Amino acid sequence: MNSFTHPISFVKEAAPLAHMCWSMGWNEANGGNFSWRLPRDEITAILARHYPDLAPAEPVAMPIDAPDLEGEIFLVTGSGQFFRHALEKPNQVFGIVQTVQGGTAWRKLWGFSSGAQPTSEFATHLAAHAIRKRVSGGRERMILHCHPPEFIALSFLMPLESRALTRALWEKMPECIVIFPDGVRVVPLLLPGTVEIAEASAAELERSRVISWSHHGIFASEENPDKIFALVETVEKASAIHRRVLSAGGARQVIDTKMLCQLTEKFGALMVAKPEFLD
Ligand code: 13P
Ligand code: ZN
Repeated sequence: MNSFTHPISFVKEAAPLAHMCWSMGWNEANGGNFSWRLPRDEITAILARHYPDLAPAEPVAMPIDAPDLEGEIFLVTGSGQFFRHALEKPNQVFGIVQTVQGGTAWRKLWGFSSGAQPTSEFATHLAAHAIRKRVSGGRERMILHCHPPEFIALSFLMPLESRALTRALWEKMPECIVIFPDGVRVVPLLLPGTVEIAEASAAELERSRVISWSHHGIFASEENPDKIFALVETVEKASAIHRRVLSAGGARQVIDTKMLCQLTEKFGALMVAKPEFLD
């Protein structure tokens, strides 16, 4: 039973998620980051009620322009902060920021008590929020970047290609095509924390909620803590099975295209997109 509590309901949900990601071995040290596009009226009311004396800080230029996110408010992990500390030091690990000046700057509203700034991957988070908000009709609100070991291992063992990776995972567990019918899109190894990795990811995020940052980690978008955890957990589980199969000399048989099509027919109503890569 989780006894963690916090005056900000979104921190109350996000801190246990971050801690659980650490306990899964996905977020060592400051590895990984998280952001949540919050319902504006609700978070504004919460901050006014619990922190009436807090004034917004001075605006800081954003790494990329995000005009479609003007005025949005995000709960985001600070650069250099440890997911392991999320329950113990939530006000240090997390901050709440708002995009201002036409989506060209952000200002701190709350948190980052040790003076941190939003994650160094903020450019990709912003690009992803803008795209996935549009593509999902506003449903997706949360971005999680982790370093899950089995998933990363595959980027050393397989071609860096979206179809090959997606099929390898779908063919290992029947749940996979249902949970990520949009597949996993591969981005080559690029310098972390750059606008370049944000731009390369943006192209792939138009088609999928799940990105592989080759030799680095996973980057995923979903609606809430349960769904984003389940998505990463499922991809990592299938990756572990695939890696074991590779380690044992390769598969003798797989879940074939016919079965993948039958799964799509039976569970289509649960899927967020029509699967590609089925031919
Ligand atoms: P931050 O500490 O800046 O969030 O960076 C962690 C990371 O995983 C970079 O890809
Ligand atoms: Zn990372």
